[in-house]
Amino acid sequence: MEEARERIIFPLDLPSKEEAIDFVRLLKRYVGCFKVGLELFISEGPEILRIIAQETDTPIFLDLKLHDIPQTMKRAYRVACRYGPKFITVHCYEGNGLFEELTQDPLHPKILSVTLLTSMNEDNLRELGYRDEYISNLSSLVLKKAHIAKDAGCDGVICSGREVGLLRKEMGDDFILVTPGIRMKGAEVKEDDQKRIFTPYDAIKSGADYIVVGRPIRDARSPVDAAIRIQEEIQRALEERKL
Ligand code: C5P
Repeated sequence: MEEARERIIFPLDLPSKEEAIDFVRLLKRYVGCFKVGLELFISEGPEILRIIAQETDTPIFLDLKLHDIPQTMKRAYRVACRYGPKFITVHCYEGNGLFEELTQDPLHPKILSVTLLTSMNEDNLRELGYRDEYISNLSSLVLKKAHIAKDAGCDGVICSGREVGLLRKEMGDDFILVTPGIRMKGAEVKEDDQKRIFTPYDAIKSGADYIVVGRPIRDARSPVDAAIRIQEEIQRALEERKL
């Protein structure tokens, strides 16, 4: 189930290196990538990336959602490359080959753009002045953002399970699609803030390359068993995708 394992991204949404490393040790053979986001990065600094790399070869996803003028983003990306992450996230609002010069090396850390934060709803977008055609059809806005990201030279996007099928069809097979908001069928997550949720099977079957799964693994009685169950679902979806 190696191929299925590689597709699971586990977010280290934790405030300290001690807690993060406990999860790294527990899960390094069961997930395909560890995601370091703002909380852990700001708490521990970039040193946390070295500490994780000393513990495991499992790739790192640096989820800092960079957003600034192009020159500043490019410079931040270049220094982040020193730590060798597999993925780096950005907010991309400009096309025009913005990142192309950064992605010439086939081994470059893949640049993924956020399409639409799941915390944004129609009212927020209206207040920001988005056109009605996008507000009444959020998928069209996600698709638009994906095209801008591709034109900028991004390697892929983060998108919900609801859009992953459309994006796979429209953006081609080489464009990386990463889907968060994953939940197991019938399993409740305490005080859940994910509104648009999908099972691992649904997301992968619809065309996601990777899924971000946090609380369903972290809060499970056995995180390892939960990760194995998720691998099994992914495996089933991958086999069906090949049919
Ligand atoms: O599975 P769970 O909801 O716990 O996963 C939360 C993780 O997914 C967080 O690290 C969060 O940054 C990430 N994420 C998200 N929704 C998005 C993009 C990323 O929940 N739209």
